[in-house]
Amino acid sequence: MRLAHLSFSAERGNRMQPIKVMVVDDVAETRASIRQLLELNGGFEVIGEAADGQEALAKAVELRPDCVLLDINMPVMDGITAAERFFVQFPEIAVVMMSVQGEKEYLRKSMAAGARDYLVKPFSPDELADTITRAVQVTQRRYVEGMPVITKHVLVLGPKGGVGRTTIAANVALALAALGDSTCLLDLNTQFSDLAMMLDIVPVQTLSALQGNETITSDDIESVVEKHDSGAHVLFAPTRPEEAESVDVPLIEGVLGALQSLYEWVVVDAPAGLHDLVFPVLDRRPTSLLVMTPELAPVRNTGQLLKLLHELEYDMDAAKVVLNCWDAKKAVTAEVIERNLKLPVSIHIPYDPEVMQAAANRGVPVVAGNPRSNSAKALQELVDHLCGKIDEKPKRRVFAMLRRETKWAMS
Ligand SMILES: Nc1ncnc2c1ncn2[C@@H]1O[C@H](COP(=O)(O)OP(=O)(O)OP(=O)(O)O)[C@@H](O)[C@H]1O
Ligand SMILES: [Mg+2]
Repeated sequence: MRLAHLSFSAERGNRMQPIKVMVVDDVAETRASIRQLLELNGGFEVIGEAADGQEALAKAVELRPDCVLLDINMPVMDGITAAERFFVQFPEIAVVMMSVQGEKEYLRKSMAAGARDYLVKPFSPDELADTITRAVQVTQRRYVEGMPVITKHVLVLGPKGGVGRTTIAANVALALAALGDSTCLLDLNTQFSDLAMMLDIVPVQTLSALQGNETITSDDIESVVEKHDSGAHVLFAPTRPEEAESVDVPLIEGVLGALQSLYEWVVVDAPAGLHDLVFPVLDRRPTSLLVMTPELAPVRNTGQLLKLLHELEYDMDAAKVVLNCWDAKKAVTAEVIERNLKLPVSIHIPYDPEVMQAAANRGVPVVAGNPRSNSAKALQELVDHLCGKIDEKPKRRVFAMLRRETKWAMS
């Protein structure tokens, strides 16, 4: 995809027009001093002020600032709630949070809510100008031909190990990157991950390098991702099992918040089962790829996983069933799976041991190393599904049957 033309150069001061800023703080004196700092700079125009999040959202409709500076603690509507609303209603506006020392947890939450960056009061004129400029640049880069880019999350999930999740996640990410879409592959297998080997990369940095960060910014992400030749970026899980504990749910929430300011696609390789780290991904309403092999036990386990997710109020209607290691001679047919899961089988990936093992051993996923193989073609078809190039079969209600008594009711 072509990136939209940016209306300013990377250098502050070379911009054709001043950056339009709205200052939102309940203290009038603070608003006045920020206005003064920005107006002295010359590269900024303060086009409005508001005393709380609600007033800011109402004024943004008319004023359309490039950047909103939001204080965290405000009456009526606080900064975090306002950041969330701005992200949904005005994704083209860069949100920068302002806080005082000691509000680290709030800052982390605001970044996860979609803020681009933050400033801790008191800040210098240079810090203020640089932070706003960078936030506006990143936000504007997210526009493709005038349309906002909303990050799409793909969660590669399966109740059982060894069914091909990592193989599928790696191939999907590479194929998306090959389309020219900015893509990050996030590895949540915090113990004994195979991804580095499958991609023939020795990670210099992993998720554990982000441990202890107050908030996670796009710069932090850029400093830890590895760049694969396909163009895909990869954020690896720790390489040593004893580092697994350094990756927790708040860290993943922060990472996902920062990733959505950088990438069109975030592909997540989930550990087997339903790990805690997967919930922040589920909260972002991903397209889940439910990977299973055509045997009775994986189908039964996937049914139980779907039921559990439904009980936890996650909508899995858009999930895609990926039948890996497909062999037409196997007893469990797609019809049996569809009947039991109430989801259509989106893709059959053939059992292709020679090609798949060679790919894993060489560290070159099949979509890149052997694109004419049947397994690569199936994976490419899966990516076409994700991009909306292939229509799904008409959807049936997933859980209509699960709500009734199922043959494999959970104990
Ligand atoms: N369609 C296929 N045909 C043949 N072999 C396959 C196929 N898909 C994956 N494999 C092989 O199966 C093995 C397990 O695959 P993979 O590591 O992707 O599974 P996983 O679900 O991520 O496993 P884990 O639970 O260990 O994370 C690998 O050796 C891989 O090459
Ligand atoms: Mg794996």
